[in-house]
Amino acid sequence: MGKTPDNRIKKPVSKTFLQALKGETQKTPPIWLMRQAGRYLPEYMKVRSTAKNFLHFCYTPDLAVEVTLQPLRRYGFDAAILFSDILVVPDALGQKVEFVPGSGPQLEPIKNMAQLESTLSNANFMKHLDPVFQTVGRLSKEIPETTALIGFAGAPWTVATYMVEGKGSKTYEEIRSIAYQDPQFFQTLIDMLVDNTSDYLIEQANRGAEALQVFDSWAGVLSEKQFSKWSIEPMARIVERVKAVHPNVPIIGFPRGAGQLYELYVQQTGVDAVGLDHTVPLEWARDHLQKHVCVQGNLDNLLVVAGGEEMDIEARRILEILGDGPLVFNMGHGIVPQTPPEHVARLVDIVRGKV
Ligand code: CP3
Repeated sequence: MGKTPDNRIKKPVSKTFLQALKGETQKTPPIWLMRQAGRYLPEYMKVRSTAKNFLHFCYTPDLAVEVTLQPLRRYGFDAAILFSDILVVPDALGQKVEFVPGSGPQLEPIKNMAQLESTLSNANFMKHLDPVFQTVGRLSKEIPETTALIGFAGAPWTVATYMVEGKGSKTYEEIRSIAYQDPQFFQTLIDMLVDNTSDYLIEQANRGAEALQVFDSWAGVLSEKQFSKWSIEPMARIVERVKAVHPNVPIIGFPRGAGQLYELYVQQTGVDAVGLDHTVPLEWARDHLQKHVCVQGNLDNLLVVAGGEEMDIEARRILEILGDGPLVFNMGHGIVPQTPPEHVARLVDIVRGKV
């Protein structure tokens, strides 16, 4: 009694995250957090210490599957994001990429056409990324049935900033100058990233990713014209390519820092949902963005470090203003390592109406 007989036909389980992305308002908005797997979790640090280096970690399915599942066990998030990094794409194209503990990613920079031609090749691209695809395939079988699986990639502009500057930049002066002074080189690089990123995302969906997020973390440094050319245009081409194969896999674009240009991005890229950084005013987002697409965001990640009443108030304000339309609750950027895990637990309870 009370048990489901094994032979009964299973009803498809509804995943609130996917329904929200399709534009349906949910009674309780789904929640996941960017960088939900990571150094703020002691169980992540334990697994991390067993890996030779960070890229090797990303390319070891046993480890990548395990750390993807860790935050789900703690918090029961509505979505899991594949554990990997946006810089596996330049690595798979043949550029030298290293994660130096304490100082972030370092790449052998590519600054002109000659360097591009002698370094990058897509001959081995998909094969190199096969461990990532294996991780996706395993996750799609191992995650809880109400949890959705998100695949991801970096947007061409954001990935190019690392490829050209050779590290995380502070001012992006060099890459913005190169984009003006050598547009032929820069367009070739972006086109190459559009092609390969599309293939990469399509294969993640083939292996079971149910939604795809494209991180344009440094879109906010671009001028109006550059934003159209280097953020919107490449993204529109990626969306078109992926949708031609997977019309029902929702795509979330995250042009962090785009300000008023978020509106143009939503109109012109064809994304199903848009990730809002913490500077986007909620009422403006409701009136200008959420009318057209699902919105995702946008609690300041540093409020989750601080916790306390301020975090509660701001989380509730987001639910209040954006909760009457399609919303995926998230932060405005990824969880930082100094975040107390219990603040994340409290945030999930607030969003689920438990406190
Ligand atoms: O949980 C998840 O969100 C999934 C995994 C994920 C990582 N990176 C793991 C990671 C995702 C989605 C990313 C995306 C990513 N990587 C972005 C876009 C999102 C954003 O934060 O803006 C960018 C710009 C990168 C590039 C990158 N990777 C940097 C600049 C760094 C160093 C800074 C840092 O936080 O250490 C990384 C390393 C990285 N990627 C870590 C993790 C968990 C930390 C590495 C470690 O454990 O030593």
